[in-house]
Amino acid sequence: MKKIIFFVFCLIFFLYCHYNSSAKEEKDLYIKSLLFSKGSSNAIQCNGTVSFSSLSAVGIQTSCGSCHGSGIATAGVDISSYSSLSGFLQPNLPDNSTLYLVLIPGGKMNQYTNSNLTNTIYCWIKGGAIQ
Ligand code: HEC
Repeated sequence: MKKIIFFVFCLIFFLYCHYNSSAKEEKDLYIKSLLFSKGSSNAIQCNGTVSFSSLSAVGIQTSCGSCHGSGIATAGVDISSYSSLSGFLQPNLPDNSTLYLVLIPGGKMNQYTNSNLTNTIYCWIKGGAIQ
């Protein structure tokens, strides 16, 4: 009888430890996700050099040109002009740049963009918004 009680005790102890450690792993994962997924931008991988001309290659004209083209620069934004776009960004700091912030979910221009265009604009700014 004592052996059975001892066995049951060990089992409870083991399960308790196991439960605690898996709860701790969950907490660690949660903390990691808080640390590393802050904002939408950290998931974007930038490869190679992205220049102003890369934006037309991913269709900025098609997505934005009808309201922000040359001659129809709504809100002062002309996406065909490097100097116009430069006024809406801070080189190397996409998270501080209006041009990027309007495109992310919740941003005013989010409905007009697509993930390829948004990522390219992110990487262009991140890489210094070169001409
Ligand atoms: C249907 C017309 C339309 C399209 C398409 C459009 N925009 Fe806009 N955009 C506007 C209007 C209108 C405003 C001014 C909105 C406001 O200030 O409330 C604006 C404002 C902006 C601003 C300035 C925001 C500010 O706060 O100064 C940026 C940057 C911008 N758009 C970028 C883009 C980009 C990039 C695209 C393409 C993905 C795009 N827009 C597509 C109409 C459009």
